[in-house]
Amino acid sequence: MGKFFVGLIAGILLAVAAVYIFIAQGGVPMNVSASSQPMERFLARTAITASMGKAGQEQSPIQADETNLLAGAHIYQTKGCAGCHGHIDDPHSGAGKNFYPLAPHLLPPSKGVTDDEVGETHWVVKNGIRFSAMPTYNERLSDTELWQVSLLLHNADKLPASVQAVLREGPGGERKPAAAATTASPSPAESASPASSATPAP
Ligand code: HEC
Repeated sequence: MGKFFVGLIAGILLAVAAVYIFIAQGGVPMNVSASSQPMERFLARTAITASMGKAGQEQSPIQADETNLLAGAHIYQTKGCAGCHGHIDDPHSGAGKNFYPLAPHLLPPSKGVTDDEVGETHWVVKNGIRFSAMPTYNERLSDTELWQVSLLLHNADKLPASVQAVLREGPGGERKPAAAATTASPSPAESASPASSATPAP
């Protein structure tokens, strides 16, 4: 029995040493430009799904009607989402392209999270994602607002024209070239987005 435990502990120490040597030899690249490792994606997915638990299956208590989708679009444009995840019609916009993990484009023409459960999106926006730039909005948005922006993203492929118009024109006005040309100092929305992208607010 004693020998068994000595062997077990030696085995554990060897495994820890092997992991350390793997990392110390550069087995886990820390540069943003390195391509993602299959194990890394698997571990991240598994951890997020486990953290979410049953919350991911929660149904929205509010309807995906025009009023709520309009409110969701307003939140998306003004609360920093667009700064990281980019704008409608432009999959290459958004500072989040330079992050690792990158902030995916969530509006057409991208599929975004339209085929995820709306409860999963609500969980992500509410809680944020650890070890990534995705911040928590628990303190900054009410639960209704969390559902509104989640419904917007869940229905991103079938938004009414009025909602698309909000996403194209502002409020927040980031996309209005005229505003950029006529305003001497950057609008609050413009100056806020790079800063909030670099340091997710606590
Ligand atoms: C500072 C940058 C930043 C801001 C601001 C931000 N996000 Fe994110 N978001 C990220 C990053 C990075 C990820 C990817 C995390 C990962 O892959 O683990 C992400 C992931 C997500 C996902 C999951 C995407 C997927 O494919 O599963 C959703 C949904 C999301 N964000 C919605 C939002 C919404 C809504 C807002 C605004 C209320 C927002 N984000 C604001 C950086 C940001």
